[in-house]
Amino acid sequence: MDSDLSLRARLRALPVFTGELPQFDTDAAPEAPLPLLVEWLEAAITAGVAQPHAMAIATATREGVPSNRTLLLKDVDTEAVWFASLSSGPKGSDLDENPHAALVFYWREQGRQVRIVGTVDKGPRAVSEADFLERHPNARARAIAGNQSEPVDAEDAGLATAKQILAADPDHVPDAWTAYRVIPTSVEFWQAERERDQVRLRYRRTDDGWTKEILWP
Ligand SMILES: Cc1cc2nc3c(=O)[nH]c(=O)nc-3n(C[C@H](O)[C@H](O)[C@H](O)COP(=O)(O)O)c2cc1C
Repeated sequence: MDSDLSLRARLRALPVFTGELPQFDTDAAPEAPLPLLVEWLEAAITAGVAQPHAMAIATATREGVPSNRTLLLKDVDTEAVWFASLSSGPKGSDLDENPHAALVFYWREQGRQVRIVGTVDKGPRAVSEADFLERHPNARARAIAGNQSEPVDAEDAGLATAKQILAADPDHVPDAWTAYRVIPTSVEFWQAERERDQVRLRYRRTDDGWTKEILWP
């Protein structure tokens, strides 16, 4: 029986990439990486990939102690990749000390990964406010109540106060809610292929644009 096998053997036997995988024609890749990121995102959405906008984002303290967590992508424009969070929590304090981040998207149904390294800054206040006001009311109340990532008080009194604040002013946005933008210095696109012949294309920022390189898998 399978369950008699060691965990190691069962992990080894798990399939990785099943089903149809898209082709990645690196010769047709654009000169800059963000249009290709948008192209892959659109393809993931069309293909029905689950949560294609979920990405891992790693930050580090000034001393280089890393943290990683999942966030939702909010937008991609010509310059940057956007996410939103409270600047008062651990990731916000990492970014205050060390404004760099590394992002990973993994679209398992398509065997695709995108890795981004970049510098991070805060977008205009109006973008943060618009983002906050689009959130679910419970999420807004928690963000107002919250010291994100702090232990929850038994009474959770902050939440009741937050709900009162929102009832009195539905457009209230906490100062700490922040739309951040990651301005990439390096973006790598990775495509699995059926015979394990993976394709990797890395863009690196230069003084006047981007260089593209194919990497060994
Ligand atoms: C699918 C998914 C999406 C998430 N999206 C967000 C988000 O957009 N913004 C956010 O602040 N936290 C989001 N979180 C929670 C974060 O992973 C994390 O727990 C939180 O931001 C606290 O991180 P920190 O302690 O490193 O600051 C999400 C978690 C998951 C699993």
